[in-house]
Amino acid sequence: MDHLHTSAERPTKVSHVADLVRGMVHDGRLSAGDRLPSTRALAGELGLSRGTVTAAYEQLDGEGYVELRHGVAPRVAATLTKAAARPPTSPRRPPASPGPTTRPHAVVDLRPGVPSVAAVAERDWRAAWRHAAAAPLQARYPDPAGEPALRAQISNQLALSRGFSPTARRVVVTSGTAEAISLVTEAIARRPGAGNPARVAVENPGYRAGRRAVTSAGGVPVPVPVTTRGMDVDALRAVHSRERLDAVLVTPSHQYPLGGAMPVSARHDLLAWAATEGVHVVEDDYDSEFRHRGAPLPALAALDSHGVVVHLGSFSKVLDPRLRCGYLVLPAGAPGSDEAPDAGTPAAVAICAARAARGASVATVVQEALAHLMSTGAFRRHVARCRRDYRAKRRSVAEAFEDVPGVRVRALDGGLHAVLELDQVPAVDLVARLASRGIEVADLQDYVVAGSGLELNGIVLGYAPPSGTVLRDALRTIRTELGPGPPP
Ligand SMILES: Cc1ncc(COP(=O)(O)O)c(C=O)c1O
Repeated sequence: MDHLHTSAERPTKVSHVADLVRGMVHDGRLSAGDRLPSTRALAGELGLSRGTVTAAYEQLDGEGYVELRHGVAPRVAATLTKAAARPPTSPRRPPASPGPTTRPHAVVDLRPGVPSVAAVAERDWRAAWRHAAAAPLQARYPDPAGEPALRAQISNQLALSRGFSPTARRVVVTSGTAEAISLVTEAIARRPGAGNPARVAVENPGYRAGRRAVTSAGGVPVPVPVTTRGMDVDALRAVHSRERLDAVLVTPSHQYPLGGAMPVSARHDLLAWAATEGVHVVEDDYDSEFRHRGAPLPALAALDSHGVVVHLGSFSKVLDPRLRCGYLVLPAGAPGSDEAPDAGTPAAVAICAARAARGASVATVVQEALAHLMSTGAFRRHVARCRRDYRAKRRSVAEAFEDVPGVRVRALDGGLHAVLELDQVPAVDLVARLASRGIEVADLQDYVVAGSGLELNGIVLGYAPPSGTVLRDALRTIRTELGPGPPP
């Protein structure tokens, strides 16, 4: 009944509702991701028309406070960080100017590493948790290797999407990739004949949390350069000849963070070398669900006829990093054999022993909910939805910078982040300028191993979480901050 309000009255009422919601965000009564009342419910409560509340929500959506999606309850934007939720007096923001344009910048967090949670169908998500919560109490400790239902689902998923079919017995549930890396490092150091501490080759630049996981398990990360196509195997050989390595941690399907996939010849080369030298290959397959260009590449584990690869996967980039759930796949034993993993290759035996010593690290209820999501097909539908969403966002990133001189966009072949390599603008300055305009991005140099002497000038952007509109606005701001170029 919106038309019953006069046009003079309406903007005031719209601002009133918008101020009300914004105020609740500022004073902490509403936080990122909180559900808001439906337009009907709030209109009823405030004695206003539904159209007024809808207009206020739309205004807040434009400002980045609220997320509106068709068919889904309105929410406070999941991307709204604590900084954005502070009232407008925050020192991060530009000085307030009078009048209605004194709104604070909503902070758009484009630091990489998190998925879009908007794509999860709430019905499926709730059904999975209802199913897990309905399980009766049980008087037993969980299997340290993980719940059989989840291990079976992961094994099916790998067969469908990653080109190899490990039995469920080879799948071990971990508290994310981070725990898997520390578990493998610990297991390797315990093996007879292995170096102690374990020396683990890591990509440079590479995944910081991966390096920290090596160190936390008492291992020593040893940096190895990467090319535009993943780890440089010749450089790896040279490093090994100087300081004997026990393992190598690689992201062969999508080098993190620079992008690029290891070609098949380099993969065979790496595996044959590792088998000859007795080095374990740890494959971090962190975002392979999202390949945007070219055919999906089978996992390195799919080529492993030597039993040297430990394959790692995670639910952090596909669902929600707070689940703290991932998995490792033990190296294959003799080809075609299905021996019990704890009687398999020495590495498999050592990893199983380390897992048993630590006990289960992911609560059964989490594992059961994930198994349900996978067994009902909801997980696959979710991944397909994310893939479509990320492809569209990736296109926005590619188009935003394709003609900007001195800027090269990398890592767009897959995943949910991109790298802008910069020729002229110093990345440190750009990161600071963008922060002052409410956009958070990561400095590429932060991915470089400290003391390695490598210097990179660029920024890393995670493009998954914001809505398409918020992302495009943020990209326009980044483009402006990069200096004059052709008009967008
Ligand atoms: C390279 C890489 N590996 C793995 C992960 C996932 O780690 P975890 O499962 O510990 O959350 C990420 C997430 O950001 C990543 O960037």
